[in-house]
Amino acid sequence: MAQQYKGWESFKAQPIESKLKYFNHPSSNRLFDIIFAQQFDKPFLQQLFDIANQIRKIAKSQHGSMFLQQLLADKRAMLFFVQPSTRTFMSFLNACHILGMKTSEIRDTATSSEVKGESPEDSIRTFSSYVDLIITRHPDEGFAQKASWVLNSYANRSIPIINGGSGKDQHPTQALLDIYTLSRAFSELGGIDNKRITMIGDLKRGRTVRSLCRLLALYHNVHINFVSPASYCMREDILKFLDQKGVSYHISESLDGCLEDTDAIYATRLQDEHNEKNESSPDLSNYNITAKHLDIIKPSCIIMHPFPRRNEIHTDVDQDPRAHYWKQARNGMWIRAALMLYLFEREHAVKEYVL
Ligand code: NCD
Repeated sequence: MAQQYKGWESFKAQPIESKLKYFNHPSSNRLFDIIFAQQFDKPFLQQLFDIANQIRKIAKSQHGSMFLQQLLADKRAMLFFVQPSTRTFMSFLNACHILGMKTSEIRDTATSSEVKGESPEDSIRTFSSYVDLIITRHPDEGFAQKASWVLNSYANRSIPIINGGSGKDQHPTQALLDIYTLSRAFSELGGIDNKRITMIGDLKRGRTVRSLCRLLALYHNVHINFVSPASYCMREDILKFLDQKGVSYHISESLDGCLEDTDAIYATRLQDEHNEKNESSPDLSNYNITAKHLDIIKPSCIIMHPFPRRNEIHTDVDQDPRAHYWKQARNGMWIRAALMLYLFEREHAVKEYVL
């Protein structure tokens, strides 16, 4: 059960844009807590891509791998993942291992003192007594923000919080790995500027597409196609944000005509864990990407999916070189390692490493 905290409701009610600085380090002004995709700007993304590229090169040799394992060997991280997760959990865990960080985890509140009635806020404060970083995944929208606010306002030991997915709202580190994947795929094709991205599926409740839109808007002349049944359309807040940023987009209920000139397909699954009571799930098979689409998409088009998938992308697409979803998942480990190195202000060590 969440507890009442004086000041929280008024902090929560402030528009995100007006409180971004709150999540920065008070003296260095670098990012400290990673809560919203709105915290990232283009120079930050580029910096992170460079660190991630360097880490993955260094990790290729045994010497490099051992070097990386010293970088955060004095730090400990807590993975508090109380909503199902495979890739986000595994990529964070292994990113910690790459950098030598020790980890502890809770993946189910049935095994923690929350089952005895402890609040999630007291749990977070308890973790902060033992570790140097907390990574959270939680079903409640705003959970990571509240965890950060409670530590900053009440605890004498304030440590960074990373949001590994909160409710239907935000998944900022997935957006990092998605934009990193796009940037690598288009490195010889002029980068992300001027590209057309087609997002397909449950755009209303998918937090990955929502966070990715925030980052795509940082690039020049990007166009987004939103393809979904009308009842699963991208929500108004993101459309309004894209309007304000001058990002052009097109909303369609069918894939027809959307794929031929697109540079990236981003398929997503139905988020039926968020169904209302008695809500039935529609048949979305018309939105699935199958081998027949491989004949109509551009030779340079990349196919992405945050995973898990059901049938949104058939396995007969997997062997096509344009299928990027397995690379995308692995990119998550490198970019999350880069992010954690940045948060502990140790990225200089990889920049200086001579390959
Ligand atoms: C996504 C999520 O949890 O939002 N998965 C992930 O982190 N890779 C997408 C999903 O569950 O559909």
